[in-house]
Amino acid sequence: MKVLRDVPLAPLTTLQVGGRASYFAEATCTEEVLEAYTWARSQNLPLFPLGSGSNLLVSDDGFEGLVLKISLKGITVDEDDQYVTLTAAAGEVWDKLVAQSVDAGWAGIECLSGIPGSCGATPIQNVGAYGQEVCQTITCVSVYDKVEQKQKTLPNSECRFEYRSSIFKKTDRYVVLSVTYKLQKDSTPTITYPELKAQLTQQPTLKEVRAAVLALRRRKSMIVDATDINSRSAGSFFINPVVDASFADALRHRYPNLPTYPLGSAVKLPAAWLIEQAGFKKGYRRSRAAISSNHALAIVNLGGATAAEIIALMKEIQDKVEQTFGIILQPEPVFLGFEPSLAR
Ligand code: EPU
Repeated sequence: MKVLRDVPLAPLTTLQVGGRASYFAEATCTEEVLEAYTWARSQNLPLFPLGSGSNLLVSDDGFEGLVLKISLKGITVDEDDQYVTLTAAAGEVWDKLVAQSVDAGWAGIECLSGIPGSCGATPIQNVGAYGQEVCQTITCVSVYDKVEQKQKTLPNSECRFEYRSSIFKKTDRYVVLSVTYKLQKDSTPTITYPELKAQLTQQPTLKEVRAAVLALRRRKSMIVDATDINSRSAGSFFINPVVDASFADALRHRYPNLPTYPLGSAVKLPAAWLIEQAGFKKGYRRSRAAISSNHALAIVNLGGATAAEIIALMKEIQDKVEQTFGIILQPEPVFLGFEPSLAR
């Protein structure tokens, strides 16, 4: 494994922002991941595992440590009469797995079409869209455990999946090596998300669902596309806040049009709506950072933006939403090379 010096990180992220990694290497197999950790430990350096950089904000000062690009490849397929079990190496492209599954007629991840990133990233923030979350199909995640310094497999029940969170987001103890998903054969899709339902017939095929999701995401610039400046983002920049039912009721009293989504006994509020109601118009610009013209939840690099400019806009949005609604929006992307206090 070759270790490079002073590698620019911005081109390795969809936001295209930030400084350099003092050290950079690429792992194409599990042994190289282990080797990289041993090397970083021997140099007393932190190690950051990098997927495809679609949910990442790198600081302007970059990262003093080893960035390890996870490029493990390979998909294995195991079938019985009813189910298909797919194990994807962490570096496999997520949407390739979705496309392959939809083509083969395997159900369970079709609503997650068009999401940028690698398979290894999907359990970290429990990727979700249009009524599906990966935790509904993940059976287990194979990891390298930095504490025990060995490889192990965590069953779904130990991954502590929640809305946009998991054990892999709460601690940096584990590096995802591969993810196993269990999909259904010969299954018709169940569509629950109203906006998607409205685009489909009563009994849509998996292919129709995928096409409809891709069209919806493209309209919102949530498909990474070099010709669409609004897609130079990290997807949703904020997590939709989850509040007590009583807080949501009080808010609904003040704002009768507030959309709400039940989440267990709590209520999820659309951050995009809160941002717009707090006074930000889509396309709002602050230096070279802007709110996407196509979705209020994405922050876009208009070209040459610094991380400081992205952060300034983030803080302006957080402050105004807090003043208006008493809610502190939490950022969704992973922050690399910043003070831990930044995310509030
Ligand atoms: N809305 C606005 N303004 C906008 C966009 C949306 O007011 O510009 C309001 C509308 O009321 C709309 C509601 O927000 O009905 C929800 O919007 P949308 O369906 O676009 O979903 P979201 O809550 O903004 C979440 C995920 C997305 C995922 C979509 C679709 C989070 C943080 N984001 O967005 O995931 O694609 O649902 O399921 O949960 C991502 O995580 O990066 C991501 C793109």
